[in-house]
Parts: sequence; C-alpha cells; structure tokens
Amino acid sequence: MTIDKSTGSYIFQKKVSDIGLLCVGSKNEGMSIVLEDPLTMERKVVFDAVSGAAVCSLPHGDPDITSQMSDFAKDSVYTFGAYFANYAAEELGQFICEKSKGAFASTLFTGSGSESVENALKIMRQYHLEKGDDKRYKFISRKQSYHGYTIGSLSIGDGY
Ligand SMILES: Cc1ncc(COP(=O)(O)O)c(C=O)c1O
Repeated sequence: MTIDKSTGSYIFQKKVSDIGLLCVGSKNEGMSIVLEDPLTMERKVVFDAVSGAAVCSLPHGDPDITSQMSDFAKDSVYTFGAYFANYAAEELGQFICEKSKGAFASTLFTGSGSESVENALKIMRQYHLEKGDDKRYKFISRKQSYHGYTIGSLSIGDGY
C-alpha cells in the first residue's frame, strides 16, 4: 500500500495533517523496530530501548508470545470482561495472586496502561464508598506526570 500525499493518512495522527512513519516489522530478535516513510518508502532500523511509551519490557515479535497469542485467538471469542472470564485469564490471575504472596486476592486485566489507571481510580473511589466514606474523592498526583490518554488518567496528569 502507498499513501498519497494529497489525501494524507487514514489514521488519526497526533497532528491531523501529519503522515507518520509506519512500523513495518522488527529485527534483532525483537530489540529493534523497522520504520518506513510511506512517502519515500525509505526504511530505517531503530533500536527500541523504550518500547512504546516506555512501559513495556517484552521484545517485538517474540515467537513464544506470538505462538501463544495465535493459539489462544483460535479458541477464544470476545466476551465482555465484566460478565465472563476465561480459563487463560483464570490461570494468569491465579499465577499473579500466588506470586504476590498474599498482596493480591484477585486480578483485573486491561488492554493498556491508560485503562489500568482508569480502573485504579474507580476502584479507589469504590473502596471508600463501600466503607461508607463518600468524602474521599480527590486524587493526588505528581507534577509533570503522565498516566495515559483517557479522560480520567489525563485529569490526574500534568497538562498533556
Ligand atoms: C506511568 C504511566 N501510566 C500510564 C501510561 C499509559 O499507558 P498506555 O500507553 O499503555 O495507555 C503510561 C504510558 O506511557 C505511563 O508511563
């Protein structure tokens, strides 16, 4: 596929008129990503020392991870997490709770850091409400902090 400069990108970019570099693969056993300029088709290999927004420690395209994802995708269907779990989630939840040595009694899986922060905010509020304390609703966060791109996580961040 080529991207026409006159029509622009069909992906909503950080700046609407931008045509961003495309990630077209990985190299060096997942330690580098391959970026392509869709207008010139020029490619460059970049060592990825931060992975996304610096919060992921998994290599790109790891064969163990991709094969497990592929196996699971064949057996799974989409379900709304608030109503149905699945055995893979149960197993991972058990693993995390057992490894936590009593710190965690249950787990909640989300699709991103932003969703995790969003849920953490709701759980904190729910905790105090269930204890009958409706006065605790303020969150304190550090200046120059970033907690994600959802409205709740943005509201406790510093001006993104
Ligand atoms: C401290 C912190 N919280 C939350 C997030 C949001 O994570 P995600 O980009 O997966 O939504 C980030 C992402 O950089 C982060 O650094």
